[in-house]
Amino acid sequence: MAGDSLEEYYRARAPEYEQIYYRDNPVRRAEIDAEAKRLAELVSGKSVLELACGTGYWTRVMSQTATRITASDIAPEALIEAKRKQYGCEVTIVEADMFAHDFGEILFDLVALGFWFSHHPRQEYDRLFDVLTRRLKKNGLIWMIDNNPPAEGSAEMSCHVDEFGNNYKHRYLSDGKPFVILKNYFSRNDLEEILGRRFDLCSLVYGQYYWSVVLQPSGTV
Ligand SMILES: C[S@@+](CC[C@H](N)C(=O)[O-])C[C@H]1O[C@@H](n2cnc3c(N)ncnc32)[C@H](O)[C@@H]1O
Repeated sequence: MAGDSLEEYYRARAPEYEQIYYRDNPVRRAEIDAEAKRLAELVSGKSVLELACGTGYWTRVMSQTATRITASDIAPEALIEAKRKQYGCEVTIVEADMFAHDFGEILFDLVALGFWFSHHPRQEYDRLFDVLTRRLKKNGLIWMIDNNPPAEGSAEMSCHVDEFGNNYKHRYLSDGKPFVILKNYFSRNDLEEILGRRFDLCSLVYGQYYWSVVLQPSGTV
């Protein structure tokens, strides 16, 4: 199952994961920094539920201005890294499978999901959209970021496309351990079409290396 190997991959990769944010590429760095600035403004004064928070890179960005954050991930190895960070607001770190955990009765102003959408099977978007909206307050917002192909370098070739159009790639840890993971890429039009089925697009930033969206469930305004 792709999902199982994806979890295994990120568990193994947790200690080296944040290197992706510090590669020596000024354009890439500028896109991440610009997104961090937009995100800090977006979450100002808000409560946040972060799903698949990983090592807490975006958690720390949001904590500069958010009122409180529940940051969750399925991988204990990633959460060890997240717990090492210092945050600017109250952050509760929870080990949770976002598809199984209910996060209690509390509703949030914003749900954040970084670098997950590209790993999610195309035939299961409704399941993901349910998870993103379930714990959202009325008029709440969803933020997502993910990458475009140049962010991964040309060496990482696709190895397979399944019957749903999901793309699979080889990935290697720094010790050479190989994985095959589901990794889809999206044009601006793809994003508008897929996300527009359930959400109003409050913003869509489509950069060279990254894209980000702010969404609101359709019909809630
Ligand atoms: C590409 S990383 C993104 C980490 C972080 N959001 C970021 O942007 O730096 C994907 C994360 O999803 C987590 N993950 C995988 N399956 C998950 C699930 N079912 N529920 C919650 N987190 C999951 C992995 O452990 C990993 O930390």
